Amino acid sequence: MLDFINNIPKAELHLHIEGSLEPELMFSLAQKNNIKLPYKNIQEVKDAYNFTNLQSFLDLYYNGAKVLITQQDFYDLTFEYLKKCHKQKILHTEIFFDPQTHTHRGIEFSTVLNGIKQALNDAKNEFKISSKLIMCFLRHLSQEDAFKTLEQALEFKEDIIAIGLDSSEIGNPPSKFEKVFKKAKELGFKLVAHAGEEASYEYINEALDLLEVNRIDHGVQAIQNEQLMKRLKQMQIALTVCPLSNTKLKVFETMQEHNIKKMLDFGINVTINSDDPAYFGGYLNENFIAVYKALDLSKQQIIQLAKNSFNSSFISIEEKQDYI
Ligand code: ADE
Ligand code: ZN
Repeated sequence: MLDFINNIPKAELHLHIEGSLEPELMFSLAQKNNIKLPYKNIQEVKDAYNFTNLQSFLDLYYNGAKVLITQQDFYDLTFEYLKKCHKQKILHTEIFFDPQTHTHRGIEFSTVLNGIKQALNDAKNEFKISSKLIMCFLRHLSQEDAFKTLEQALEFKEDIIAIGLDSSEIGNPPSKFEKVFKKAKELGFKLVAHAGEEASYEYINEALDLLEVNRIDHGVQAIQNEQLMKRLKQMQIALTVCPLSNTKLKVFETMQEHNIKKMLDFGINVTINSDDPAYFGGYLNENFIAVYKALDLSKQQIIQLAKNSFNSSFISIEEKQDYI
């Protein structure tokens, strides 16, 4: 079964490129760019990855991202992740990036985007991996700042398929970004949002009603409300669930307590994803394997999860011909 999981073709729909920054690359970029890190060596970095909730992770994640300075740095970061995709039989990936994390440090939007884009092009040629880019707004910042970021993205509109919403969830509800999501929809972007990761299931209803998203990122708190569970089943909207992230950030104490199997059995369109693999101890296959081992998924359920990943992707009908 482990061979089967490792070799089944998959799509990944929830991956923060900044969250794929491995400690080794963090250290070498810090040296190259003369950035001071609060760690003496790689082991100290790894030891620091002991999180109590989402915010305790985000604090280290934003600090780690400071080593990314040049276009080549963003290229190297992205290409390293794409090499992992190739090894893990990920044929298609939809990658989040957080421009504000970088523009607020004086890095040009174009430096970030062009570095990532070049790596995606090279992986398409070298590994035949297809990809889409999703630009996320940081929800701890203002809607006005999100509007400025949307403005900067317009020059690169053809390179960005969707707009997303991430960072500190509690206290920053989807309603805070209603206007900017409306504008993004008018401009033709697809929409996603992190909702119901550690905040109330009500945030999922808000993301659906006020932001009109095409997918929900995480969404595991839906289990708190039967009516919402029925709604998600009826809509067949995808939830991009990230099991190792959820246990590392203490959304669930153990993988045995994770609700992904319950949601799958209920008929909700769930997918498995890695979120920030360099911080949470595993890429996509490790997430599949952890769930399989803890919750005893059947082979049919593994196949269903892999199918859901392609069916819920933003690959267009025309592009789908390439997979047949
Ligand atoms: N940014 C990177 N990973 C995230 C997560 N799991 N939740 C919210 N924002 C994030
Ligand atoms: Zn995420």
